[in-house]
Amino acid sequence: MPLHEAVAGSEWWRSGVIYQVYPRSFADSNADGMGDLNGVTSKLDHLKNLGVDAIWLSPFYPSPQKDAGYDVANYTDVDPLFGSLADFDVMLEKAHELGLRVMIDLVPNHTSDQHPWFQEAIPAEPGSAARAFYHFKDGRGESGELPPNNWLSLFGGPAWTRTDDGQWYLHLFDSSQPDLNWENPKVREAFEDILRFWLDRGVDGFRVDQPHAMGKQAGLPDHPYVETAGAGFIEGEPDPPMWFQDSVHEIFRSWRKILESYDGERAMCGEAYVLPLTKMAQWVRPDEFHQTFNFRFLDSPWEKDSVVAAINESFHAFDQVGAPSTWVLNNHDTIRHASRFGGDYGRATASDGIGPDSPQPDNALGLAKARAATLFMLGLPGASYIYQGEELGLPEHTTLEAKNRQDPTFFRTNGERVGRDGARVPLPWEKGGSTNGFSTSEEAWLPQPESFASLSRDQQGQEGTTLWLYKRALELRKQRKLGEGSFEWSSQEGLLCHQNGSTLVVHNFENSAAELPAGAVLLSSAPLEGSKLPANASCWLAI
Ligand code: NOJ
Repeated sequence: MPLHEAVAGSEWWRSGVIYQVYPRSFADSNADGMGDLNGVTSKLDHLKNLGVDAIWLSPFYPSPQKDAGYDVANYTDVDPLFGSLADFDVMLEKAHELGLRVMIDLVPNHTSDQHPWFQEAIPAEPGSAARAFYHFKDGRGESGELPPNNWLSLFGGPAWTRTDDGQWYLHLFDSSQPDLNWENPKVREAFEDILRFWLDRGVDGFRVDQPHAMGKQAGLPDHPYVETAGAGFIEGEPDPPMWFQDSVHEIFRSWRKILESYDGERAMCGEAYVLPLTKMAQWVRPDEFHQTFNFRFLDSPWEKDSVVAAINESFHAFDQVGAPSTWVLNNHDTIRHASRFGGDYGRATASDGIGPDSPQPDNALGLAKARAATLFMLGLPGASYIYQGEELGLPEHTTLEAKNRQDPTFFRTNGERVGRDGARVPLPWEKGGSTNGFSTSEEAWLPQPESFASLSRDQQGQEGTTLWLYKRALELRKQRKLGEGSFEWSSQEGLLCHQNGSTLVVHNFENSAAELPAGAVLLSSAPLEGSKLPANASCWLAI
């Protein structure tokens, strides 16, 4: 009996491949050095051609851009930096014409401090209705000079900032990102309207930012083990008062109902960093999220035991609730896997980045492992996420100078954690010029490293390139229905193998080439050595 049986449901989000577009770094249409929606529209056919089913757009809303748009000042408009609502509609229509679904980012845990709700709250009285949109509290100490509790910001430093009238407001991220108070029914209503606004426009769903932070324990008590967990949590310890609160589930249920009142299999994926996965599965019960990112898989070091454990736990947990597992190796918050796998950089989601003073990755090893890991991942049943640029084998920009840094993590830790800019560098489309086809301006918002020129999309048509590997894998995945398939481990000396229907997915975690099992080779992440699969390579066989 397979560990995971082919699922009955045929909805697209159970098995689709979703490509994350990071708008500011995708393509620039108006020569200001910043990507935009018209840039996305102009390149959609490349994504169709790549073979993905859907795109997810990171935020493009009006924003002071203190956290690259995850600080939203208006949830129902487009920042002029990225275009207009009309440009959005054109993009959506073109995507739909091409058969691509479009998910957009919803950021409900916090707003920008420039959002009218917060702008109204700041001059309002303590205890007023305007302040009740957020978490405003009196401080501790004789004159309230100490923060109301010991919570820390995930970007470094305390999670509280004091206002001129002496109260403090909560921000689990930057001080420019005040946390909303989800106990307030007005906040709930406002977000239901926001969902409808975009669903009416035709979006296919939402990627929901930090949903596990939305609920806060009543009274906002101290984090019981902040000394060891910092802003986070430790698996096995009790849930800290700002993570995984049960009060959030009824919010997701109400959203699910709204999505289901629309036609066309609209879906939401929660960026729910919830562990263990058995708990995460509670978030994808049939009336809550359709999917959540599989951070357990993303955070696994690319080592045999850890990958095996992550996969086993994923199927056990998600199958219990009839939800698909998702698989993901990169996003705009992690060190790109082509660099991450070329060194020892800890958890992918630690958001620490690699700076000029850090040990530099072994790029050749990183890329070999990254290509193999992706081929292994795309052979797994469930939905998969790809982050823009990984199909080109792009490395992290590891030598960005301090003057180029924009991530609040860098500033809130005085440069101790360089942060995530290195994964957010503009894409190279055509080799040459100052931005390799990203923009016609002299400069992009972040400079590209030299290696991007030869990795440009126009340099990668031929067999063996990373772009070719991704395209071929997505084509075969579709033909062989791997996304909808089943999963069972298959034992083979020296190789890690799993079977998905009539496809055997093989990875070589050993130090030397190993004999492939019987079967016709469909695709390999590295040239075979006769009948042997090299170390750090994956391959698909028809059996
Ligand atoms: C998760 C997003 O992916 C990240 O980029 C952002 O900084 C935080 N949430 C805060 O919104």
